Formats: sequence, C-alpha cells, structure tokens
Amino acid sequence: MSKHFITFRDITADECAFLFTRTAKLKAERQRNQYMRPHLGGRPVGLFFAKPSTRTRVSFECAINELGGHAVVLQLKDTQFSRGEPLSHSARVLSRYLSALVIRTFDENELVELSKWGSIPVVNALTDLHHPCQVLADIFTLTEHLNGRPLEKQLVAWIGDGNNMANTWIEAAAVLGFSLNLACPEGHDPNKEILKRGIRDNPGIKLMRSPAEAVTGAGAVNTDVIFSMGQQGEPDQKFSDFRDYQVNSALMAKAAPGAIFMHCLPAHPGEEVTDEVLESPASVIFDEAENRLHVQKALLEYLIPAL
Ligand code: CP
Ligand code: NVA
Repeated sequence: MSKHFITFRDITADECAFLFTRTAKLKAERQRNQYMRPHLGGRPVGLFFAKPSTRTRVSFECAINELGGHAVVLQLKDTQFSRGEPLSHSARVLSRYLSALVIRTFDENELVELSKWGSIPVVNALTDLHHPCQVLADIFTLTEHLNGRPLEKQLVAWIGDGNNMANTWIEAAAVLGFSLNLACPEGHDPNKEILKRGIRDNPGIKLMRSPAEAVTGAGAVNTDVIFSMGQQGEPDQKFSDFRDYQVNSALMAKAAPGAIFMHCLPAHPGEEVTDEVLESPASVIFDEAENRLHVQKALLEYLIPAL
C-alpha cells in the first residue's frame, strides 16, 4: 500500500526526524552544487493545481528534476477533472502513468478519494484544510535556528486566521510535542475537530484571543494572509475583525529574545504583517521558501522507493 502525505498526522515524530536529517544532507549537497541524484530513475510525478502557486509549483518541479524524475504539471482547467470525471476513474488512470501525485485543490476529501482509488502516493500541496508540505519546511527552518535546543521545549505563536496553515501547525504540534499558542479573532478559529484532537494529544496547544499573550515567551511568531485563496469574496468585515492582529515590531518585541518571524508567503505587507517585520533580521521567510525544495526532496525520496 502506498504511503501518503495528506495531513501532518500521516507521519510520526520519528519519520519527521528522519526526513529532517535527510533534508539537511540534501540541502548541504545542493549548497556544494551537487544537484542531481538518480533516485527517481526517470519516473514521472504529477503536479496538479486547482489554485495558483509560485513556491509549491517551482520547488516541487525542481525537486522532482533534481531527484532524476520529471514533473507532469496539470492545471485544473486543462484536465477532465474540470468536466467532472469521477475521481475513482482519474485516480486509477493516473496511477498507470505516474509514480506519485502532488495535488493542490479546495476540498481535502478529493485527496482522500484519490488516495483510496489510486495505487500511488498522494501528497497534499494545499487544500482549504491543510498545507503539510509548508509546515514541514517551516519546522525544519525553525530547527535550523534552535542550535541544537530541543523542538519539543519550544513555544510557537500563531497570530491571525485559523486557516489551513493554522490547522496544520496544530497537527504538527500534536505529532511533535512543541507548545503552540494560537491568537485568532473571534469567528476565525481553526477547524474545531482538528483543534479538539490536537489539544487532546498535546495540552500545550492553546487557543486565545490576545496576540500579546500568545507571543509572550514564544521563540517563533507565525502569521498568514487574512484572505486565503478562494476566500476573496468574503466581506470586508474580516479586515476589521483582524485590526488588532497585525504582527508588527511592537508585537515582536513581546516575544522571547531572538524570536524568529515566520510566514509561508505570499504576504500582504501592511495587512497581516508590517513590511518592517518582514524585512527585519528576525524574518526567516525566504529560508522557509528555500526549505520547501529540500524538505520535498526528502519527502519524495521517502514516499517513492528507489527502483
Ligand atoms: N507558500 C506557498 O505554498 O506558496 P505558493 O502558493 O506560491 O505555492
Ligand atoms: N492560507 C493561504 C496559504 C497560501 C500558501 C491560502 O490558502 O491561500
């Protein structure tokens, strides 16, 4: 049976540690200009997008190429997915061609359905509910700044929308055991079931209303856009709900000394975060983006065994 990466709960803490060791090695090799590995042996990996993407598309395409495979990039409108072909059929058809399917779409159930019917690994490249590849790269980035200090002793703060990224940070905290303070405006909480299960597994996960309280003692402060993809039609009421949830220098000053600032990008400077924070020495946003590539190479190697 194929192993999938649809939610962060699809991996264990041990698997995560293994992936991070591998990521560090692949990153160091690439920094020495050793790009190519023969792991995929020419095999194709599908990249399917029903929403826009810059980082995910480019980092996965580079990762597949550098692992000796090739990417077959599909946009929703160009495929029979857009004309309603049953997912049970598409999954079995694509499994005859591809060695894995990386997919970005709206409804997470589509990934579950594809994973049930197909015979290849399904990787979540973002849904309305989760973004596990991003959080895997983000936590690898965080560990790079810990200088050997244990991750499970860390407090991470999430400020802003209880969106797909917030849900995934909750699951990562549940799997890896670090503490997580989420400050979300009322009415914009993370998914109820994900939060409930997260707190059951890790009582160090806390939902609160005050950003100042959430960042106190935090070694990493995280935020994301106010309007995620597909939510652009929501009323401007949302901006006023988020008025007191901007990550700015005053808020960063309340975090632990040396705290880093994290954002999955794309950012909207002046909305969820100030340009000053994005451009500050605390900001690791471009390391997070770079690490998408290295972490995804490790992940693909793991999910698609060598020939
Ligand atoms: N962070 C992220 O997933 O970026 P893209 O939407 O550009 O892929
Ligand atoms: N929450 C954002 C993340 C983008 C990478 C969105 O879903 O649009």
